[in-house]
Amino acid sequence: MVNKINTVLNDIAQVTASKNNDPEAFRLKYLSKKGLLNQLFEDFKTLSPDQKKIVGQQLNVLKDALNSKYSELKLFFEETTETSSKNDLSLPGDPLSIGSRHPISIVRNEINEIFNRLGFTVSDGPEIEDDWHVFGALNFPPEHPARDMQDTFFIEKNPEILLRTHTSSVQVRVMENTKPPIRMVMPGRVYRNEAISARSHCFFHQVEGLYIDKNVSFADLKQTLLFFAKEYFGPETQIRLRPSYFPFTEPSAEMDISCTCKGKGCNLCKNTGWLEILGCGMVDPNVLENCGIDSKVYSGYAFGMGIERTSLLKYHVKDIRIYSENDVRFLRQFSSVI
Ligand code: PHE
Repeated sequence: MVNKINTVLNDIAQVTASKNNDPEAFRLKYLSKKGLLNQLFEDFKTLSPDQKKIVGQQLNVLKDALNSKYSELKLFFEETTETSSKNDLSLPGDPLSIGSRHPISIVRNEINEIFNRLGFTVSDGPEIEDDWHVFGALNFPPEHPARDMQDTFFIEKNPEILLRTHTSSVQVRVMENTKPPIRMVMPGRVYRNEAISARSHCFFHQVEGLYIDKNVSFADLKQTLLFFAKEYFGPETQIRLRPSYFPFTEPSAEMDISCTCKGKGCNLCKNTGWLEILGCGMVDPNVLENCGIDSKVYSGYAFGMGIERTSLLKYHVKDIRIYSENDVRFLRQFSSVI
């Protein structure tokens, strides 16, 4: 038996840590339950006490040698395979946070998309405007209160230059540069010198709509807005047009949509059953002429809605300020919307 042990000792002395020597194969051959070491221990039991003394020592030497060789092989294996695991392309990648769209952008895109389906294209214009495009061409009389310093941000050195107070200025730019028929929606940011509160801000967003062609009537406007309201707020939605006044439309109206409380009365609609969402009307012939369009040949309608307001109603947001606070706890709630 001592010979056998020596042979094994010799054998394993030849074994070197390399790629060809798999530690697991080594373990199975020598150290597993059915491996050589256990077999030798089994044989050992049959020896006489005298023989046991000599062989026992040798057997322990062999056991130590096997264990340390196994550790050596294993270490080499781990070290060499660790480098290759760094390049393991099958490992899952680091999670990539893709963020989310801002609710204002979501609503703007949705509005654009509904009007796109009716043949409206999207256009935009500058936020820093001149008096003509924001007021003059739109029939605002010189003393109109909207021109007042209290409502409009003017550039101190040149009061001809101002921050647009509505997207209706883009209507003017479009009409000046496009031959009818015109079918366009114009989203963008607008500025008003208002105290910041839960309901109003010094900047917000609007979408303007403009349709100019031959024989456009108020009925076309009404049907288009009804279609929009049903697409955006749901097929149950009703609309109501109330007579109103804007210098650049005649006749003018304000549109309400039916509240989801279905007239039962709630906080949102202040128990009226209706929610105001936009201003609209037939483009005043003076405005068409100001922009170089023959008002005897063409007529058209325009409308303008606040995106924040539309978004507040859809998402039941209570404070308009949250849209510009960059609070990720709010913004992350929109991550599932594309
Ligand atoms: N510009 C108006 C506003 O800011 C809205 C409007 C647009 C009204 C187009 C009529 C036609 O309140």
